[in-house]
Amino acid sequence: MVTTGKTNTLTDNYLPIYLEALRIDSIVDFDLYIRIGDDLILYRASDLPFTEKTRATLLDNNVDRLYVPSSSQERYQTYIESNIGQILQDRSISEPTKAGIVYDSTKLLVKDVLANPTLSENVRRSKSMVESSVSYIIKGQEAFHNLLRVMSFDYYTYTHSVNVCTFSIAFARHLGITDEEKLNHLGTGALLHDVGKTKISDRILNKRSGLTLLEMELVKRHPQWGVELMRETDMIPEEAYFPIIQHHERFDGAGYPSSLRGNDIHEFGRIVGIADSFDALTTQRVYQPAVDTYPALKIMFKQVSSFDRKLLEKFAYLMGPGGAGR
Ligand SMILES: [Fe+2]
Ligand SMILES: [Fe+2]
Repeated sequence: MVTTGKTNTLTDNYLPIYLEALRIDSIVDFDLYIRIGDDLILYRASDLPFTEKTRATLLDNNVDRLYVPSSSQERYQTYIESNIGQILQDRSISEPTKAGIVYDSTKLLVKDVLANPTLSENVRRSKSMVESSVSYIIKGQEAFHNLLRVMSFDYYTYTHSVNVCTFSIAFARHLGITDEEKLNHLGTGALLHDVGKTKISDRILNKRSGLTLLEMELVKRHPQWGVELMRETDMIPEEAYFPIIQHHERFDGAGYPSSLRGNDIHEFGRIVGIADSFDALTTQRVYQPAVDTYPALKIMFKQVSSFDRKLLEKFAYLMGPGGAGR
């Protein structure tokens, strides 16, 4: 074992990663720690090679998780994003692990986007990650099923963004949309649908009790702000703006910002509107406990005039036992 004997207590400063994500034919230029009991020990320093032997020794010892210190997380993220295509195609990596890798790294990516939404590089990275996710999800039901298993349902906007993107791609595929470019545009818009919330303070977003009228007005501006932020980068295709501007429009005209009705709402707006409402219900919020799939769908059917009924029925099928289930 290559160690310096340096030990660290397991804290939030270390990111758990999958050993299987590390390819021996690539440059693994970040420190790797291993967990022993309650401690994390430096296993391999960034300047040493990551060899087949290193990997085999770990696998022999049933180690499937390693840890990357926060100082190296950016390098780890760059590594994953540039290798995600090969990782998802690698037959030696188990399907649940692939789902875990793609989900975790998309979350980290969206964290960066929300911290700096007008940085072109962040938007480019989002588009590229969506392309990998689309080709992974459309391969079959199993990918979506595994993604559902690794999903988290906390109140963070970055988690919500990745969930809505995943639901939207799988839902569009289920509706018979097979054109990859179209799915990429939908996925990009879905991933960025709430980017306008970066202009609203956490104090308002996480408020427990009712919002004041003024606060409500501010919250309702986030679709338009999202569009403006993305226009500044000029990096996303026109179709990807529909999920951002229309995800709060409602089929009966009761939504915002433009009170659009029925099919005046673009198909992408209707798809992401359903995915967004569903994830909002199944996610724990400061002001509301999470509900399960079935009760969430039941609540949505009670407000069926808000949605395109045919689409909602198909979504319910996708999420129910006949589809991927949860
Ligand atoms: Fe929203
Ligand atoms: Fe949302």
